[in-house]
Amino acid sequence: MAKTKEIVLGSSTLGIRNTFHSLIAILTTLLVVTTIYLTQDIGGVEYSQETNGTSGDPFSSKCDLFSGKWVFDNESYPLYKEKQCKFMSDQLACEKFGRKDLSYQNWRWKPHQCDLPRFNATTLLEKLRNKRLVFVGDSLIRGQWLSMICLVDSSFSSTLKSMQTISNGSLNIFKVKEYNASIEHYWSPLLVESNSDDPIHHRVLERTVRVKAIEKHARYWDDADFLVFNTYLWWRRPVMNVLWGSFEDPNGVYKRVEMLRVYEMALRTWSEWLEVQINRNKTKLFFVSMSPTHERAEEWGGTNGDNCYKETNMITKEGYWGKGSDPKMMHIVENVIEDLKRRGLNVQILNITQLSEYRKEGHPSIYRKQWEPLTQTQISNPNGYADCIHWCLPGVPDVWNEFLYAYILNP
Ligand SMILES: *[C@@H]1O[C@H](CO)[C@@H](O)[C@H](O)[C@H]1NC(C)=O
Ligand SMILES: *[C@@H]1O[C@H](CO)[C@@H](O)[C@H](O)[C@H]1NC(C)=O
Ligand SMILES: *[C@@H]1O[C@H](CO)[C@@H](O)[C@H](O)[C@H]1NC(C)=O
Ligand SMILES: *[C@@H]1O[C@H](CO)[C@@H](O)[C@H](O)[C@H]1NC(C)=O
Ligand SMILES: *[C@@H]1O[C@H](CO)[C@@H](O)[C@H](O)[C@H]1NC(C)=O
Ligand SMILES: *[C@@H]1O[C@H](CO)[C@@H](O)[C@H](O)[C@H]1NC(C)=O
Ligand SMILES: *[C@@H]1O[C@H](CO)[C@@H](O)[C@H](O)[C@H]1NC(C)=O
Repeated sequence: MAKTKEIVLGSSTLGIRNTFHSLIAILTTLLVVTTIYLTQDIGGVEYSQETNGTSGDPFSSKCDLFSGKWVFDNESYPLYKEKQCKFMSDQLACEKFGRKDLSYQNWRWKPHQCDLPRFNATTLLEKLRNKRLVFVGDSLIRGQWLSMICLVDSSFSSTLKSMQTISNGSLNIFKVKEYNASIEHYWSPLLVESNSDDPIHHRVLERTVRVKAIEKHARYWDDADFLVFNTYLWWRRPVMNVLWGSFEDPNGVYKRVEMLRVYEMALRTWSEWLEVQINRNKTKLFFVSMSPTHERAEEWGGTNGDNCYKETNMITKEGYWGKGSDPKMMHIVENVIEDLKRRGLNVQILNITQLSEYRKEGHPSIYRKQWEPLTQTQISNPNGYADCIHWCLPGVPDVWNEFLYAYILNP
């Protein structure tokens, strides 16, 4: 049975500060950085050159929304102010935690052959009236969910909103009451069942995946109107433990299997679930491609041993692709989604990898809440604790949501 904790936010509610603080505490604990293992070494890949294009209809078949460039635009961006977003996480609030160079907030994505539609929260909420938009996956997609909430919250400062946490924090539900619109995040970093499914205590040395089991998670989201998935970072190790049987079963069989094979098996489980369970007349499906990390400055010509710490400019080399982004995993995702398409179910890929690769300056680095006091050694070596995985808000995930917005408007 789900435990429910509800906090209703209205402009005139008294005692709002305290409830906010507990809410923010919940949200931020959920965003605890996870131990990530850099294990894969993959060479660069080649990308097709840009074509010239004129501004035009973003939904003409000619326009690839994900092929384009970043344009400095401090008139329109950021789309909201960090402080205005009441639901901001201390993990992503870089300005609040002392970041001084704020130009990372001022970039617009310009597809080569068209323009992205400008985000309009009213238009989005009309589309979400009486509907559920659910983001499913890890802390990166949780950042995207928070970005979406901030995009909406900042435009609707006076309407009644609520945040609800159920299932021990696995499911977080943001609601705009006036529209009965629901924007949710469900924590399942590997999509299928794993020993990292606890939304707070999920650091484990040995990662174990129940590669055939998804229903325990899926029952929370499979009737949603819009589903946005991701799964990548938690897979970055060469070998995984696969469990046949349940976690409670003492006779469960464990086997160590090469990660790419496990990743594919998990995505097949996911896609088979979708094929059988999703109401094609109702639910629109999206998959967010891998979010790049910037943990090794030598990859972009920086000093060996450095990372995103102190970076204030983006990478300008066209087609730059870091070693942290595994093209083999991207291909697996593409294949699984292609197969689904052949069976009549469409999943739109939000291909954010390349455009986010450029943004080495967009990560929180050291400008976020530290959960434990820093040691003297850490203070003398900020590289060592810089977060080069997640993204500051406002920032890069806002643009991922502009893609999502474009597709929700034009199915
Ligand atoms: C791009 O523009 C150049 C010169 O304006 C033209 O020669 C070329 O054919 C164009 N390429 C495409 C793909 O439109
Ligand atoms: C935008 O940036 C330009 C150049 O850095 C600066 O002159 C201008 O004042 C900025 N405008 C705003 C609205 O911040
Ligand atoms: C957003 O859309 C609404 C209704 O479609 C419109 O009234 C409003 O002017 C738009 N806002 C902006 C900032 O364009
Ligand atoms: C409110 O939205 C939910 C989906 O989140 C839907 O199931 C329900 O029917 C809606 N309520 C009304 C009164 O339309
Ligand atoms: C919440 O966590 C408790 C303790 O770990 C567990 O017994 C319970 O089954 C969990 N509830 C849900 C809905 O996951
Ligand atoms: C989906 O729509 C089609 C055509 O409108 C209809 O034939 C079919 O029964 C619908 N399926 C469901 C599950 O509602
Ligand atoms: C995503 O973009 C990359 C390069 O930017 C490309 O190689 C890949 O094929 C794209 N995938 C899809 C499904 O569009």
